[in-house]
Amino acid sequence: PSITFILPDGERRTTEAAVGDTAMYAALSLGLDGVVAECGGNAVCATCHVYVEHGLEKLPAVAADEDDLLDGTAAERLPNSRLSCQIKLSSDLDGLILRIPDRQV
Ligand code: FES
Repeated sequence: PSITFILPDGERRTTEAAVGDTAMYAALSLGLDGVVAECGGNAVCATCHVYVEHGLEKLPAVAADEDDLLDGTAAERLPNSRLSCQIKLSSDLDGLILRIPDRQV
């Protein structure tokens, strides 16, 4: 599925990710340093915070541990805030657009 990241400066980067990859992995493979992902995708650090600008309705509901972490993000939590390591990419999510916050720590 195709996934696009909007960087804090407005630049857009798109990549073709593999089904089953996480959005965090896609960001790291693009070399985007705005996704820090300190804990390596284990849902304990909240430094992989993103705002879902397109495709939010296709994502599963926020899990309890993700919800707790989203309360502690460095950038403000918004209704479309998610942890990118908890977004598993599928063909259904093709065209997903994620905005990277201006800070993760
Ligand atoms: Fe640590 Fe997502 S990478 S919570």
